[in-house]
Amino acid sequence: MAAIWHPFTQMKTAQAPIEITRGKGAYLLTRDGTSYLDAISSWWVNLHGHAHPYIAKKIADQASELEHVIFAGFTHPPARELTDRLLPLLPGKMGKLFYSDNGSTAVEVGLKIALQYWHNKKKNKTKIVSFKGGYHGDTFGTMSASGKTPFNRPFWNHLFEVITITPPSRVLEEKCVEELEAAVATSNIACFLFEPLIQGASGMVVHCPKTLSHLLRICREHEIITIADEVMTGFGRTGSLFASEILDVQPDILCLSKGITGGFLPLGATACTEEIYQAFHSEEKQKAFLHGHSYTANPISCASALASLDLLLAQECTKQRTMISRSHADFVKQWKNHPRLTRCESLGTILAIEYKDGNSTYFSTLSNELYHFFINQKILLRPLGNVLYVLPPYCITQEELTLIYDTIALTFE
Ligand SMILES: Cc1ncc(COP(=O)(O)O)c(C=O)c1O
Repeated sequence: MAAIWHPFTQMKTAQAPIEITRGKGAYLLTRDGTSYLDAISSWWVNLHGHAHPYIAKKIADQASELEHVIFAGFTHPPARELTDRLLPLLPGKMGKLFYSDNGSTAVEVGLKIALQYWHNKKKNKTKIVSFKGGYHGDTFGTMSASGKTPFNRPFWNHLFEVITITPPSRVLEEKCVEELEAAVATSNIACFLFEPLIQGASGMVVHCPKTLSHLLRICREHEIITIADEVMTGFGRTGSLFASEILDVQPDILCLSKGITGGFLPLGATACTEEIYQAFHSEEKQKAFLHGHSYTANPISCASALASLDLLLAQECTKQRTMISRSHADFVKQWKNHPRLTRCESLGTILAIEYKDGNSTYFSTLSNELYHFFINQKILLRPLGNVLYVLPPYCITQEELTLIYDTIALTFE
């Protein structure tokens, strides 16, 4: 067994990992030619299919031109072009982009910008509000902001305080408004961090856009910086290009990663409004945002992001996303009242199916059983507790989706 310690894995009880040597379209292939249909876009990163030749070529071109350069004191064409193309596509009035290298750091940067904004303005606004059950990453800052969960149990003593409020799932709309208003009345809140429209890792829980907009309006009225964590939802997953687009109130800071490079390379990006940026723009060095990562804005990652944008904005991709959304919606119509399920809903290209199960946590044994059932059927689906979800690359075909649905329906018997 290789001396590799795999993520989110109990190495003692886990089966040996499946070695993948090639990817093509929606498939992952082993050396002996066995293929697995990747129905979760390899942890939600892949947009256009594995080893997409267009992106691969652009990466190769960039690698032989400039592989990397320190991003303090230097810049490069792929970062400049990506910034110019990405900013106008983002919801809200985003004026600046700060690069990092993964989803956790994109959110960590968002939190730090919000906290330092108030520090630079010499205002005592220091508290962070987020949704219960949110997931924002695995650094200490993002673990803290995600709230205390069984996942981060060993670190509870080291997590900083955040105020968590009930998320606006469809049955709890009033409760979250009341909780935010109570928090606003008693605390000096710097920022509100949220996953827009759908909480991913906590089980693909869909939120009410009207209530979420209402929460953002309350934040605006009380000068609370709003931070949309679009690490999962960005780049078309929920139907619109970015989930925040369909809200009535736009965020002040927006965090991106995962699909940004089409799923080829790590890259994080945190956008903020010009107004926020201006609080850092000063003669005083201490007011600068003194944060960075060695691979910040890596040119090959940026080239990959540019190539992925070309594909994402093409008509063909929009057609595919519409096809996936419609197929998911038809599946929901067919199965939502099945007695084996407590929930079956879709949002854009994301389908979520919640099984009736005594143990609804991530540690549910049902999750393991389902995972192995699908792997035996050569489909990669990785349930979150008792919630199974489908979040495919946009290149998937109707036939491949039908195969996934038919296989899922077998588990309802
Ligand atoms: C909404 C959200 N934010 C942040 C992260 C962290 O991203 P990464 O795994 O790239 O650190 C994730 C990862 O699943 C996520 O879903």
